[in-house]
Amino acid sequence: MRQVYLDYSATTPVKEEVVKEMIPYFTEKFGNPSTLYASGLEAKAGLDKARHQVAELINAEDREIFFTSCGTEADNWVIEGVADAYKDKGKHIITTKIEHHAILHTCEYLEKHGYEVTYLDVDSEGFVDPLQRILPAFFLYYILQFYNTLIIPPPLYAA
Ligand SMILES: Cc1ncc(COP(=O)(O)O)c(C=O)c1O
Repeated sequence: MRQVYLDYSATTPVKEEVVKEMIPYFTEKFGNPSTLYASGLEAKAGLDKARHQVAELINAEDREIFFTSCGTEADNWVIEGVADAYKDKGKHIITTKIEHHAILHTCEYLEKHGYEVTYLDVDSEGFVDPLQRILPAFFLYYILQFYNTLIIPPPLYAA
């Protein structure tokens, strides 16, 4: 039976030209990029090149691009990082009830450490209800612009 994979928002096959570009880093240039010897420097050059390409793609600075090992790490890093950086300004996070567990579990963790979290409801199509009360004192409004499982763009309404 022929199978059709429809979850390309979660993962996709890697393009042939990308595989070709990556193979040297899996086979010859596999050094640790944080080291100072030749093979490490070679790997670091590849990493820097990739960072530059990604930055150019989204019109950012190289120094603004960080690679993480997975989505969960990125979520943890940004939510906990912002929470800590702004803890003197406010301790209120607003998110939705339909976020990925990596978001929800991080928010639950922060709740245990003195943060208040508002979990907004969404309607049957995943849209955030604009009439929900949003407390003014929040520092992080984290709603996935494109919720990758449902493939919907929840609009952010101006308060
Ligand atoms: C917002 C978000 N965070 C985390 C993850 C999990 O990513 P990973 O398995 O790479 O940790 C996903 C995966 O769908 C996601 O959509």
